[in-house]
Amino acid sequence: MLEQFLPFHLPTIGEDEIRSVTETLLSGWLTTGPKVRQFEEEFRKFISAAHAVAINSGTAALHLALDAVGIQQGDEVIVPTMTFASTAEVVQYLRARPVLAECQPDTLNLDPTQIEKLITPKTKAIMPVHFAGQPCEMDRILDVARRYDLKVIEDAAHALPARYRGQIVGKIGDITCFSFYATKTITTGEGGMITTNNPEWGDRMRMMSLHGISKDAWERYTAEGSWSYEILAPGYKYNMTDIAAAIGIEQLKKCNQFWAARCRIAARYDKGFADLPEIRRPLCRPDVDHAWHLYVIQLELDRLRISRNDFIEALKKEGIGTSVHFIPMHLHPYYRKTFGYRPEDLPVASAIFERIVSLPIYSRMSDSDVDRVIHAFRNMVTQYRR
Ligand SMILES: Cc1ncc(COP(=O)(O)O)c(C=O)c1O
Repeated sequence: MLEQFLPFHLPTIGEDEIRSVTETLLSGWLTTGPKVRQFEEEFRKFISAAHAVAINSGTAALHLALDAVGIQQGDEVIVPTMTFASTAEVVQYLRARPVLAECQPDTLNLDPTQIEKLITPKTKAIMPVHFAGQPCEMDRILDVARRYDLKVIEDAAHALPARYRGQIVGKIGDITCFSFYATKTITTGEGGMITTNNPEWGDRMRMMSLHGISKDAWERYTAEGSWSYEILAPGYKYNMTDIAAAIGIEQLKKCNQFWAARCRIAARYDKGFADLPEIRRPLCRPDVDHAWHLYVIQLELDRLRISRNDFIEALKKEGIGTSVHFIPMHLHPYYRKTFGYRPEDLPVASAIFERIVSLPIYSRMSDSDVDRVIHAFRNMVTQYRR
């Protein structure tokens, strides 16, 4: 019998989320209201940060964070090339320039040794991305930031929950941005959260998330509220809905359980590939707790008679869904045309891109699902070994 296709990702949504959303739908309050406030408070406590602001995507979170620290036209912001579109594009929403930085060959995280040479008098911030859920070397990044008076906006879209030297990701840099996109450790369909210990930035991000007005709808339309409000800045429409927060509240309760499942899968993959020199397993540094949002292997192409793309196609025929994270920013047509990047400008990321494959890793996967992936990879390697 042909086995069912194993998708690259499936979210874990249960009766709790369904009940919570139904209650919200029947409550008469759909947009930003009590559920969002509750979700923010519970998330804030989870991170033990001073402020948490819920918004409608991780991308919006990054945009609001850059606005809050004062990034403006003509500024430069250092962004790793090994990231998703969002990290680099939000810089340009503010008419600033993303300066792409090289990654470490083993963790694929922003290489702290490569930051300093990119700094100019226009540089205002660094945006470390905790690639795959493994925290960047924050001590080294914060040290450069301190010496050059730069703000640090952490892109923690992959990094819930993750720890760096015992400290939970969410308040290590100046502002931290999380995503609740469908594939993330916890999801609200689309959504995000921003955490910071700085009250001024917290207030600014909350205000700018809803048109730059002084009060949100919950404060205006309830019995205690009044209709009056003031516009203090030209803001955005980035508020989270109560429907999304209703999912988020239930997902957050299971966050550690989802994370434990991801850790178990990563450990099973590690064991399953340990004896294969054709597959380089992801390196996990000893001073971090990895969120394992992604499990990214590197194919040792000189030991194989197959390209990464053909490898992925062959796996698909075996019923296994995989993906690639990421096509480095400097290889995309827009960044090549606009800023003149060439593949050889960031050679580590360019070379790694040819070899990476992201394996399925999500809490719904059973041990036999994981073993199926391991089996398919092992078969493929045996078949195409040089
Ligand atoms: C590294 C990184 N940053 C930011 C984002 C953007 O998050 P969202 O999809 O919630 O806007 C993503 C993708 O989801 C991502 O992978």
